[in-house]
Amino acid sequence: MRSRLARATLCIAALAVAVCVGTAAAATFTPGSPGLGDPMFPNAGNGGYDVQSYNLTLDYTPSTNQLSGKSVITATATQALSSFDLDLRGFAISRLLVNGRAAAFTRDGGQELTVTPKSGLQSGTRFVVTIDYAGTPAVVTDPDESIEGWIPTEDGAFVVNEPQGSPAWYPCNDNPRDKATFDFAITVPDGLTALANGVLVSNASSAGKTTWVWKESDPMATYLATATLGRFDLTISKVGNIPSYVAVDPQLAKGQVLDKLPEAVQFYSSIYGPYPFNAVGAIVDSAKFVGYSLETQTKPNFPAVPDEATLVHELSHSWFGDSVTLTEWPDIWLHEGFATWSEWIWSEHEGNKTAAQRFKQLYDSHPASDTVFWGPAPARFTDPALLFNGTVYDRGGMTLEALREKIGDPTFFRLIRDWATQNRYGNVATQQFIALAERESGRDLTAFFDAWLFEDAKPTTW
Ligand code: TRP
Ligand code: ZN
Repeated sequence: MRSRLARATLCIAALAVAVCVGTAAAATFTPGSPGLGDPMFPNAGNGGYDVQSYNLTLDYTPSTNQLSGKSVITATATQALSSFDLDLRGFAISRLLVNGRAAAFTRDGGQELTVTPKSGLQSGTRFVVTIDYAGTPAVVTDPDESIEGWIPTEDGAFVVNEPQGSPAWYPCNDNPRDKATFDFAITVPDGLTALANGVLVSNASSAGKTTWVWKESDPMATYLATATLGRFDLTISKVGNIPSYVAVDPQLAKGQVLDKLPEAVQFYSSIYGPYPFNAVGAIVDSAKFVGYSLETQTKPNFPAVPDEATLVHELSHSWFGDSVTLTEWPDIWLHEGFATWSEWIWSEHEGNKTAAQRFKQLYDSHPASDTVFWGPAPARFTDPALLFNGTVYDRGGMTLEALREKIGDPTFFRLIRDWATQNRYGNVATQQFIALAERESGRDLTAFFDAWLFEDAKPTTW
């Protein structure tokens, strides 16, 4: 009796829910969030879907700085979506389709493009967004005052997007945790070379223009895409079994440094595990005013001929940054600390200063009173103006060398190799690195990591 009654009540409750859902079917479809809540860039990326692939068709005229693009984005809904956002700065959109049907859209004047398809998108279903757009691509100025995005040069453009430049040239889910594959077809005036990530599929000229087709079939974070173009001498060769593309602006005296690339790939593969991608290379442009290099996947961008340390720094980001990528920007030391330590271990490998010497030199030459060198601790701040603060590089690299000396070479080298291989193509957080270090060393490293990563003062005991 009791149970029958209970069942009857449930029945009514269930009926009530059904009625509620039935009368307002659209209510089960909700808007995807306009950001993913990153502590530094809360509006970057969007909720409710996951992108599988970007297919970008771009046409750029340097003389007028006009870019027209067609982007085909294939994604899967992770919630029932009534609408969703993409990130795009500027441009006039002439056509926007979802699954082949015209969709309504609004812009917020910033980077939010809100798309409302004709009907809701069920959770778990795949959908295709097609966007035709044109206009002047933006140069984005970051909280730290550096520039990124689509940066015009004398003969083309230098295209780099860390952390938030991508929406300046293509619509995307601009967050490092939504990796996707990329296809590029970039059309430029004959005589110019357009570069992008991955392998070169074709380049063909017609009616005074050349279309360069590139394919990145490994997962890539949006900020690691590039489309740098201009006058380049492109050398295609092989490093091991994979194609290598080295593009150098003919205005520059190339020098010998790029000859080190194969040996550096080989060296890092020997300590970090196999090179993660199916192409390798470098883009060396004449764009000194940009002031920094970037580890764009498979082809780092350099605004000038790099020195050896810069070359190997960017190459090492293939493992730490491009393949193993942070989940949130405050964990940037997982990229820059590892790339800095990679410079040191390369130097050690070449018979120059050892990593231990580099560590000691920095430690001894910066007293505790040098609070600019020591603070804020690498994993402790959320101010986006400090994203590329010196501590994420120097103290980040020192953290790894101190760890190496604490747990010994065999454990340390196994740890970084396992970190790279277990998290290949993934997203990580500092706590996962600490957990792995503790597991592999069999030690409690709380005090060690507190001193090196979280306390602003110069570490004295660890
Ligand atoms: N990723 C660059 C590096 O390899 C750092 C970087 C990107 C940067 N944007 C920047 C540094 C702006 C300074 C300013 O280290
Ligand atoms: Zn770096």
